[in-house]
Amino acid sequence: MKKDWFVEWFNTDEYLNVYKHRNESDAECHIRFLLSKINLTPKASILDLACGSGRHSILLSKLGFNVTGVDLSERLLTEAKNSAEKENLKIEFIQSDIREFSSEKKFDLIVNLFTSFGYFETDKENFLLFQKAYSLLNPNGYFVLDYFNKNHLEKNLIGYSEESNENYIIKQEREIVDQRVNKKITIIRNGNSKVYFESIKLYESNFLILKLKEFGFEIINLFGDFLGNEFDEISSPRFIALCKKNN
Ligand SMILES: C[S@@+](CC[C@H](N)C(=O)[O-])C[C@H]1O[C@@H](n2cnc3c(N)ncnc32)[C@H](O)[C@@H]1O
Repeated sequence: MKKDWFVEWFNTDEYLNVYKHRNESDAECHIRFLLSKINLTPKASILDLACGSGRHSILLSKLGFNVTGVDLSERLLTEAKNSAEKENLKIEFIQSDIREFSSEKKFDLIVNLFTSFGYFETDKENFLLFQKAYSLLNPNGYFVLDYFNKNHLEKNLIGYSEESNENYIIKQEREIVDQRVNKKITIIRNGNSKVYFESIKLYESNFLILKLKEFGFEIINLFGDFLGNEFDEISSPRFIALCKKNN
């Protein structure tokens, strides 16, 4: 497994193709749900931490919020900036590694959406997200972590899947090794094949809850999906923690 798989994979043209179902309407469902659970003032400042192509940032900005998006991928940030420009939206997009990001500005809501957590080798590096989020929030600000549910993933892992059209074949192989879910993505175009990897640390929900509290958060709600179902250890596909920084 290549160590910094996330540097390479998210900077390819292929990422948006493989995850094309993670589109604007999917993002709209997330944002509508989250905003129904959180009380924000109309001009609240929001940080989309690991914003990718900006699908959530754009929607939040359209709603009038003051949005900052941070991501490591130059490729995805270019996508995000182009979309914002097309819509005439003023969003600050910053290229940074989450582990190194700092800002004078504080936020009323910080979101980390669609499994943008657990990429690093060590727990120390992974939990820097919680530390950063806490320190970058205004008092009474909210943090949303949208991660998978380890138990559900382990029981429902699809070892192999394949999709194709006249232009490409995408093969995805998944396995769990050493408490990480590893994915090998092979993309074949015009007879040329390229291989990419994903590798995400599997954290138990109870451990995440403990860690969120340890970093100072109050957990307001735990959801198991974006339909609003409560988190269930066995059956929930997602672990969506809605947290608050008190004081
Ligand atoms: C699964 S994508 C999710 C993107 C976005 N939140 C969404 O829902 O479309 C994960 C994102 O994390 C970003 N990322 C990966 N490692 C990062 C790092 N070390 N620092 C900042 N961003 C990182 C990737 O570039 C990618 O955009």
